[in-house]
Amino acid sequence: MPFEIVKNDITRMRVDAIVNAANNSLLGGGGVDGAIHRAAGPQLLEECRALGGCATGEAKLTRGYNLPSQFVIHTVGPIWRGGSEGEPAQLAACYRNSLTLAKEQGCDSIAFPLISAGAYGYPKAQALQVAMDEVTRFLSDNDMMVYLVAYTRDAIELTGDLMNEVAAYIDDVYVQERHDFDRTARRSQYLRDGAPRGTPDPGSLFRRPHREDNARNETVFSEANVERLTAMQGEVQDVAQGRRGETFAAMVSRVMEEKGIADGECVRRANVDRRLLGKIRNNQDYKPSKQTALAFALALELSLDEARELLAKADYGLSHGSRTDVAVEYCITTGRYDVTALNTVLFKLNLQPLGY
Ligand code: APR
Repeated sequence: MPFEIVKNDITRMRVDAIVNAANNSLLGGGGVDGAIHRAAGPQLLEECRALGGCATGEAKLTRGYNLPSQFVIHTVGPIWRGGSEGEPAQLAACYRNSLTLAKEQGCDSIAFPLISAGAYGYPKAQALQVAMDEVTRFLSDNDMMVYLVAYTRDAIELTGDLMNEVAAYIDDVYVQERHDFDRTARRSQYLRDGAPRGTPDPGSLFRRPHREDNARNETVFSEANVERLTAMQGEVQDVAQGRRGETFAAMVSRVMEEKGIADGECVRRANVDRRLLGKIRNNQDYKPSKQTALAFALALELSLDEARELLAKADYGLSHGSRTDVAVEYCITTGRYDVTALNTVLFKLNLQPLGY
């Protein structure tokens, strides 16, 4: 996954370069600046002294010294003065110039703090939007693992209403695995009666509970079994639509061609490594992770039925027993296909992001 938001202390990140939210003097300070200087040791300050400061929006490189990262890229974000004094452009330049410098150094990975969103007072949600826009723009033409490191989960705030809408939808729709009990039992009845010849008896999917529980004739479900039942339902649909033989890889290629989605655009939208698409292309039996399959369902802007069809080809389903699946279902039904925006919501909900 080329762009990921993670909760951590940036001084602990094991990447090629970490970015410091410095001030124009480059002589240290509080916040992330202070943390980086403390962790790197006094040699960092000595090297910074020789740099002669840094203009707002610019970026300068030093070694990392005692830090796990080889380099520190020092950049100076704008102080927020209401937003009409060029702050957004200056902040964008911080990310752009830092990424360019990292690329010139041959870095494969980089970690950013949320620049200007602390002492410099930049509204968090707007600072995040600038960061996401610049990073995704860079990643549409470059291969690099980019982390945005949030010191605390509430350091990340989103613009717009996606967060509230997804959270509300999950509240409405997400059902504990337990309550899926009846729904899945009904589905297994459908599969048994309505499924075409040759569908394995779904009863084999259910782990029988410990012996004495049998008296209560209760069947214990695992979410994996719910997944497999949902996937089987998808396969039943495939049979109906005559695409039973189409693999996950073949469906991805077919939809990309039908919709004129180029490789670069597809991986950017799905927030996956470019090499992954090559893997999918070269191995027709490629089985993606659930997170990757969901990312492609959004990147290809599939309908809910098409998304279920794609997931079923990788033996997954969309289950109301999974908050991530419910969030994805909301985005598909409302046409919000932005994986990066949804990943920010998933980060806030402490759920695993989509992508590779
Ligand atoms: N790891 C990751 N993120 C951190 C860490 C850390 N160890 N410490 C702070 N942060 C986060 C803050 O929560 C905030 O979201 O970094 C973001 C930027 O906050 P600041 O460090 O205050 O940076 P900024 O707002 O750009 O202000 C820069 O503050 O420290 C001084 O010398 C610095 O004068 C400069 C000003």
